[in-house]
Amino acid sequence: MQKKMTISSIQKAKDVKKLTMITAYDALFAKLFENIADFILVGDSLNMSFAGKNDTLSATLDQMIYHTNAVCEGAKNTFVICDMPFGTYNTKEEALKNAIKVYQNTKADCVKIEGGVNKAHIVKELCDNGVAVCGHIGLLPQAFRGEGGYKIKGKDEESALSIIEDAKAIEKAGAFMIVIEGVKADVAQRVSQEVKVPVIGIGAGVDVDGQVLVFSDMLGLFEEFTPKFVKKYLDGASLVKDAVSRYKTEVQDSSFPQKIHTY
Ligand code: KIV
Repeated sequence: MQKKMTISSIQKAKDVKKLTMITAYDALFAKLFENIADFILVGDSLNMSFAGKNDTLSATLDQMIYHTNAVCEGAKNTFVICDMPFGTYNTKEEALKNAIKVYQNTKADCVKIEGGVNKAHIVKELCDNGVAVCGHIGLLPQAFRGEGGYKIKGKDEESALSIIEDAKAIEKAGAFMIVIEGVKADVAQRVSQEVKVPVIGIGAGVDVDGQVLVFSDMLGLFEEFTPKFVKKYLDGASLVKDAVSRYKTEVQDSSFPQKIHTY
């Protein structure tokens, strides 16, 4: 059995081994990922791949708590990260109240919040009050409407410097790990070199301290669209459809159930 990671072992892993994060939203998949992935992220991406919405914005704190509980049940031995959904950490007071709600109602090991310099005071407030925080910088899915779309970051030096500032600000505020999304690879590499905490990339190239993928993307289960940064390790949708079609055929021609499936 793999040893459950702790904040200290996560931080010690930097420059020693690459870290693997994957999302999960239920106990079934969480159990499959247990003892393989280093951490499980209960991402607000569940609003898209699980709830069928077009973006993450309408995910609620209660939904995140429900799914985090399911994941913690399925993967009792894995470090679990609960995403704070859009609109739940706008002020220090609100952020602390909502993060405490997550801690009191789930076994999540930390929360994740999107933002850099503009959210450093929130990160500090949570960390000062005993809540572990994983930051999230670069392309921020919760800001996509405000920014007029999902935009890759770090395309010029000004943008690169601002991402590095973001990373340094949330590290100083107490974030023990940082997810960096949708950033030019050379900029993500600079970020990883500029901070002491592990930097976990998604669409940010290989020169960071680990990777995160949404499980339904990498298993090929989500068919709506496939971002450039996703590698499909399984053609899950075809496998599932093929299995269900064979089941239907066998129901229709009465070749299922057989004697071995019958009492
Ligand atoms: O919600 C999510 O799954 C995420 C990952 C894309 C990092 O935040």
